[in-house]
Amino acid sequence: MTANSFASVSLEPPLVLVCVERETRFHGAILEAGEWAVSILAAPARGAAQWLATRGRPLVGQLDPVPHRRGPVTGAALLDDSLAWLEMRTTAVHPAGDHTVVVGEVVALEVALDPGDALTHYRGAFGRLP
Ligand SMILES: Cc1cc2nc3c(=O)[nH]c(=O)nc-3n(C[C@H](O)[C@H](O)[C@H](O)COP(=O)(O)O)c2cc1C
Repeated sequence: MTANSFASVSLEPPLVLVCVERETRFHGAILEAGEWAVSILAAPARGAAQWLATRGRPLVGQLDPVPHRRGPVTGAALLDDSLAWLEMRTTAVHPAGDHTVVVGEVVALEVALDPGDALTHYRGAFGRLP
C-alpha cells in the first residue's frame, strides 16, 4: 500500500510509525502479520506508487508488475526502485480517528548504493526531488 504518513519516532530503540486507514485491506494485513516493511521510493517507482494506491486492485498477483524482493528478516516485499528499505516488527497500535497509528521497531535497514532522485507527492501529483 502506498503511504506518505511514514515517520521516524525514536532512535533508541529505533521506532517508526505509519498511519493506516481502517477501511483499507492493508489495515487488516499489517495488524495480523505483526511484521512489515517500508520502501522509500525513488522517482522511477511512480507507476508502482500509483498502482499500490489503487483501491480494489486485485490482491492476488498485485506485486507481479512491481520489481521487488523479499526482506531477509520479515519476508515482506521490498520494492527495487527505492532509496532505502526498512523492516519492522509492530510494538504498539494506537487508534486515531479513521486511521490506526502502527508503531514498529526497525529490525533491518538497507540504503541504496546509488539512490538517484526521490519520488515526491505534492498538490495531488507525483514528482521528483534530486
Ligand atoms: C501519495 C499517497 C499517499 C497515501 N498515504 C496513505 C497513508 O499514509 N495511509 C493510508 O492508509 N492510505 C494512504 N494512501 C491511500 C492508500 O494507498 C489506498 O487507500 C490504497 O488503495 C489502500 O490499499 P488497500 O485497500 O489494498 O489496502 C495514500 C495514497 C497516495 C496516492
